[in-house]
Amino acid sequence: MKGLIVYATKHGSVAKAAELLLAHLPKTTDVVDLSRDAAPSDLTKYDFVLIGASVYAGKIQKSVIRFLKNYESLLLQQPLGLFVCAGEKNPEKQRQQLEKAFPEKFVQHATATATVGSAFYVEKLNFLEKLIVRIIKGNLTNYENFDEQAIAQFAQTMLGKERK
Ligand SMILES: Cc1cc2nc3c(=O)[nH]c(=O)nc-3n(C[C@H](O)[C@H](O)[C@H](O)COP(=O)(O)O)c2cc1C
Repeated sequence: MKGLIVYATKHGSVAKAAELLLAHLPKTTDVVDLSRDAAPSDLTKYDFVLIGASVYAGKIQKSVIRFLKNYESLLLQQPLGLFVCAGEKNPEKQRQQLEKAFPEKFVQHATATATVGSAFYVEKLNFLEKLIVRIIKGNLTNYENFDEQAIAQFAQTMLGKERK
């Protein structure tokens, strides 16, 4: 079984979440960071694809949306998982936010979706982001809060689907 994680990140949280996710997946799983690498050209060799992004003002990275559109027909034929890093804590709001951020047909097709936590790395935030974080959190220190349970559950659901 061979899987693929494709993600984009602005400041590194999704890269960290992908790393945590990898610990629950087969060692053969490939990882592509669209913020840095070219999109993979051949998706036919994968048995499942996991797509990750981070939420900024309700939206995810354009590179991820582009990737979904470019590979739409293939992605809609194979087991697909969608995950985001986002600061939202309320499970119902997390679900609504994720479902709004990804195009509907991919949400409908997805085997699993997950909000896997969030992080701020102060040195990477720009001026405006620092201001927003200070307003929301009341301070400006590095922060990491990944949801290990959501990550494990997300991986298990994807692998369970694969084994059937
Ligand atoms: C300016 C700004 C806007 C954000 N907007 C949202 C949002 O709309 N919803 C949410 O749940 N989290 C929001 N967040 C939290 C980020 O999604 C979270 O910090 C995430 O881990 C960042 O991922 P990255 O390191 O991959 O860029 C926001 C963070 C910043 C700094």
